[in-house]
Amino acid sequence: MYVILGARGNTGSVVARKLLDKGKKVRVVGRDSNKLAPFVSRGADAFAADVLDTDALSRAFTGAQGAYALIPPDMSSPDFRAHQDRVTESIAKALEKGGVTHAVTLSSVGADKPDKTGPVVGLHKMELRLAQVRGLNALHLRAGYFMENTLAQIGIIRGFGMMAGPVRADVPLAMIATRDIGAAAAEALLRLDFKGQQAQELLGPRDVTYAEAAKTIGLAIGKPGLAYLQLPDEQVIQAMTGMGISRNMAQLLCEMSAAINSGYMKPLERRSEKNTTPTTLEAFVQEVFLPAHQGQAASA
Ligand SMILES: NC(=O)c1ccc[n+]([C@@H]2O[C@H](COP(=O)([O-])OP(=O)(O)OC[C@H]3O[C@@H](n4cnc5c(N)ncnc54)[C@H](OP(=O)(O)O)[C@@H]3O)[C@@H](O)[C@H]2O)c1
Repeated sequence: MYVILGARGNTGSVVARKLLDKGKKVRVVGRDSNKLAPFVSRGADAFAADVLDTDALSRAFTGAQGAYALIPPDMSSPDFRAHQDRVTESIAKALEKGGVTHAVTLSSVGADKPDKTGPVVGLHKMELRLAQVRGLNALHLRAGYFMENTLAQIGIIRGFGMMAGPVRADVPLAMIATRDIGAAAAEALLRLDFKGQQAQELLGPRDVTYAEAAKTIGLAIGKPGLAYLQLPDEQVIQAMTGMGISRNMAQLLCEMSAAINSGYMKPLERRSEKNTTPTTLEAFVQEVFLPAHQGQAASA
């Protein structure tokens, strides 16, 4: 049996579906079991647990041959780093209590660095903490920059006719579609061939800059020549807090962007068949961005 945290989320939903497709026994975890019904109708067992509830999580993990673990982001947290540490501690204790021997985790490019990478510091610490869990073999998937991050641009395009953010327009990003992370995690869980503590980067099909992304998105939405503008931190923080993100989280995201812009936070591995994933930005834009853009336009 496999236990999947964040099963309704971007990556966890793909992990759960792929394992169910292979006829595996799957326990999906989320805060509300009713919302996990689509997995139950496919044969999964739904388990309601908050990741901060260590006892519930331990029960969820008990009997698992493998687990998919991530820190669900709480963008409104007034102290996001402390929140990440609390979640990590809960997951680590629950994996140990539940006697789990193999876990695939969602980490990030940049998790090799101990500081100055904003929320990614929490993933660095998660990797270190899980190394202390007795009997656990862990594979940390250090994913690149989610293509889904560009969905936040839909409102900006509508409001200002351009794309904007804290990342430099010309910095190459290992942009990856989350569906490819879920697929890689499912494959690793099916193989269960990792030992000790391992990290593996997942880098998307090729590096893409925000300037290129704006071109691709502009063409798809009928705004050729759509521009991307790098904004100063204070403006980014103001915009993000206006969207319900805490000031602390907005500041951390600016710190991460500065680390990306300076080249401090970057992939360590050379591109290879193993770390290159299939979904192109063009495909993502057609299949995910465009429907979301049209949906928001229709509801405006
Ligand atoms: N954005 C990037 O570029 C990037 C890059 C690398 C790594 N990452 C990492 O990716 C991770 C997010 O992965 P994701 O996008 O797959 O997740 P996600 O889509 O945000 O989904 C997380 C799921 O977790 C569940 N959840 C939320 N709070 C919970 C709680 N307190 N207890 C139990 N479950 C909870 C939610 O489902 P329910 O509503 O059913 O509870 C939610 O669907 C983060 O750790 C982030 O640091 C992000």
